[in-house]
Amino acid sequence: MKFLILNGVNLNLTGRREPDVYGARTLEAINREIAAFAKSRGCEVAFYQSNIEGELCAAIQSAEGIFDGIILNAGAYTHYSIALRDAISAVTVPVVEVHMSNVQAREEFRKNSVLTGVCRGEILGFGKNSYILALESFLL
Ligand code: DQA
Repeated sequence: MKFLILNGVNLNLTGRREPDVYGARTLEAINREIAAFAKSRGCEVAFYQSNIEGELCAAIQSAEGIFDGIILNAGAYTHYSIALRDAISAVTVPVVEVHMSNVQAREEFRKNSVLTGVCRGEILGFGKNSYILALESFLL
């Protein structure tokens, strides 16, 4: 099985921005850990990050027929991108939404996701392990 780990806006700064919230590991280091976990579970992973909403939509569209699932941390787009929601609805590839922080325990505006309703599920609050748990959810 093959999965796309898709990171959105500002996630490229992980490890440098608000380390108390998102941890001190860089996105590259997190991706290496995800790759090692995937290997141990006999599946393949590919990684893509963009700060641009349209590029994230294009990545979701292109995943159709190629990936068995998408693990998506859309960053702040989570809270308002109808374009990303529509892209998820437009494909049959299942998407699991992830957040490193517990968005339910933060500012009010983070408590609403416009994506969750069209995702298979949501995992939040486990730091870098949110990605691993999302991958595991596809393998159960
Ligand atoms: C985030 C939570 C979002 O609210 C925020 O805008 C991010 C990261 C998380 O991983 O906890 O950029 O998706």
